[in-house]
Amino acid sequence: MKTNSKDKALQIMQVREAYEDMLVRIAITAEYKDPGAGGHISRVSDYSTAIARSLGIPEDEVEVLRYASMMHDIGKIGIPDIILEKATSLSPEERKKIEEHTIIGGRIFEGSTSPIVMASAQIALTHHERYDGTGYPKGLKGEDIPLYGRIVSVADYFDAFVSERHYKKAWSFDDALADISKKTGSSFDPRIVSAFLGVKETIRQILDANNAIMDFVKNGKN
Ligand SMILES: [Fe+2]
Repeated sequence: MKTNSKDKALQIMQVREAYEDMLVRIAITAEYKDPGAGGHISRVSDYSTAIARSLGIPEDEVEVLRYASMMHDIGKIGIPDIILEKATSLSPEERKKIEEHTIIGGRIFEGSTSPIVMASAQIALTHHERYDGTGYPKGLKGEDIPLYGRIVSVADYFDAFVSERHYKKAWSFDDALADISKKTGSSFDPRIVSAFLGVKETIRQILDANNAIMDFVKNGKN
């Protein structure tokens, strides 16, 4: 049977939908490994997208980042639960072990030619690097850290700061902004922080919407 161009377009759209759907499901799989972080992956994706748009990054690259940022902590599937779930402070060896999630994540996605998979490898590997070179795993500095990694670094840090975890309470939105501003030039790229602060109302809306959903899930009310 001959396939007409309309059928072909539909098939391409269906394959794309399945691809995007699977990416989200892979990200959700990783979140099962770190259940205390409920919703962290989708929030980091939303914050990263808002920062990228604020920076004026072309929309096709924003789309790549939207999916790839969900994969930033995928390497945690290679870290023992006993360390991830530890409520008390970590020993230097345990801290080192957790840091390996960057390398594991980079390995999971390395070697692809797909822009989203390549960006996923880059983000998984570099989202804990710091602008001043004191981060991990490689101690990359400044613009040696890929742009996507620098964006997700701010988004990830902000979300961890304002979220309750088994080892910490949730801090306020304003405290998070003040803390990120303070770390400009040391932990974070000044250009990314400025783009982040430029869309702070969008960031607040994402956080508020997410908190309302989490309240509803927990307590059945909003
Ligand atoms: Fe991480």
